[in-house]
Amino acid sequence: MPRVLSGIQPTADSFHLGNYLGALRNWVAMQRDYDTFFAIVDLHAITVPTDPVELQDRTRLSFAQLLACGLDPELSCIFVQSQVPQHAELAWVMQCLTGFGEASRMTQFKDKSAREGGDAASVGLFTYPILQAADILLYQADQVPVGEDQRQHLELTRDLAQRFNGRYGDTFVVPDAYIAKETARVVDLQNPAAKMSKSLPTGCLFLLDESKVIEKKIKRAVTDSVGEVHFDPVEQPGVSNLLAVIAAMSDSPIAEVTENFAGGGYGPLKQATIDVVVPFARDFAVRVADLMADRAELDRIMDEGARRAREVADVSIVEVYDRVGLRRPS
Ligand code: TRP
Repeated sequence: MPRVLSGIQPTADSFHLGNYLGALRNWVAMQRDYDTFFAIVDLHAITVPTDPVELQDRTRLSFAQLLACGLDPELSCIFVQSQVPQHAELAWVMQCLTGFGEASRMTQFKDKSAREGGDAASVGLFTYPILQAADILLYQADQVPVGEDQRQHLELTRDLAQRFNGRYGDTFVVPDAYIAKETARVVDLQNPAAKMSKSLPTGCLFLLDESKVIEKKIKRAVTDSVGEVHFDPVEQPGVSNLLAVIAAMSDSPIAEVTENFAGGGYGPLKQATIDVVVPFARDFAVRVADLMADRAELDRIMDEGARRAREVADVSIVEVYDRVGLRRPS
């Protein structure tokens, strides 16, 4: 089976519908056909200022949410990045293979560092994509399911794998981005020009929000003045977003869903969105609460995932140290 690795940051108190429909649901679907590795990337989270207690809580809560989504520790290696020291070890080696100019061209760094106040941004934020490359290469992943916004980081990962292989001999699999055809790109309910994001909370449907809050956000979703339901992401982005959400959540073709609302106004469309999202979120929240209630069991699952991840990662790092001329601890 081809190997797959992906990661998600523990930087919110809840995953949102965009995370679920754009990534997590796809991870769950891949578990039986791929050799799957999924990480909570807490080392990436500290690239911007982070409260230690909050980080610890969010890492645990994020892990529970991965399980609640349907990731199964029997089928996937699910782990927390900081429990696998090989990530940081390989990242250092890869930083020494990356050109300063090459790293400077990463557009996500330019956006994120601007938000952190330019020069105040950390060097860790600058080298973030190199740590991401290490995450992927350590596991010899063939495919990396990521969103469109991660393409440039995947290109860097491929370049670094090829560079290492060229300089030191064949060591790493050169991975491909896996951009799933069927994943819905969920947009912000208040500003349909933007992708749904935790940094814009009023237009973001957090799965662990209370039902009332989710309902209210959907009712307030921005539509348009056309007054009829059509799937037209350019002219009617808000309405099309709701159609796409209903289609994805009910596993129906968008054309069929759109047909059902032909001639109707936006009220029934919003109600239908509430009807698919609210029960799902409610069940999800119950599963998360159950998992969080048994702390010892959750820790056991985390530790076991990390143990398996370290086993795989160690094979790569031993070879890397040997090829580069470094010594492993004896
Ligand atoms: N940068 C990714 C994101 O923000 C998260 C990530 C970190 C990741 N390491 C990874 C994704 C490795 C895929 C593979 O979405």
